[in-house]
Amino acid sequence: MEFFVDTANLAQISEAASMGILDGVTTNPSLMAKEGITGVENIKAHYKKICDLVPGGAISAEVLSTEYSAMVEEGKELAALNPQIVVKVPITSDGLRAIKTFTDMGIRTNCTLVFSAAQALLAAKAGATYVSPFLGRLDDIDADGLELISQIRQVYDNYRIETKILGASIRNVKHIMGCAMLGADVVTAPLASIKAMLNHPLTDSGLKKFVEDARKMQ
Ligand code: G3P
Repeated sequence: MEFFVDTANLAQISEAASMGILDGVTTNPSLMAKEGITGVENIKAHYKKICDLVPGGAISAEVLSTEYSAMVEEGKELAALNPQIVVKVPITSDGLRAIKTFTDMGIRTNCTLVFSAAQALLAAKAGATYVSPFLGRLDDIDADGLELISQIRQVYDNYRIETKILGASIRNVKHIMGCAMLGADVVTAPLASIKAMLNHPLTDSGLKKFVEDARKMQ
């Protein structure tokens, strides 16, 4: 299973990379805005910095346009920044068409804002490299985010589809481990959720005792 961190914050990306388990980064317009990144050139420079922080990692950069031709032009410019860039495209009619165009050009894509297995099937047909079902936002409206992962896994397995399922909108360790149990290929999570995977009270109490006993031996 691959691990991506879901942030545009350079310090957090750097910290996640230093953990030694990071395979990539996902961003979106909201995450970029949160970091105060504005203007085309600043946005491009920021993506380049992210690529440098995670050598060889897959870095999702989302198009801001919603119309097909503009999406394609924007995606081509993003992809030209660094071979690590994966162009992130929303699952709309124009987005689906753009994904197919990027696929034909050999540009990797991450189909985002996916909330149904039907959308995920279309994204795969268009050749998306990754599909991003948003678990947390489904749970927020009392739907079942992990059930969607299960449905997409079944549909993709039925047809040996190679599009990678990228569990997104992760809120907690339960989401991450649910994705792992259900066979998602990737999760993208906030740094706090990834770090929380380390926690167990028996590890804490066990280590405390080992440290105490180690002192007695010195
Ligand atoms: O990057 C897309 C996704 O992970 C967004 O998550 O927390 O805004 O629902 P969230």
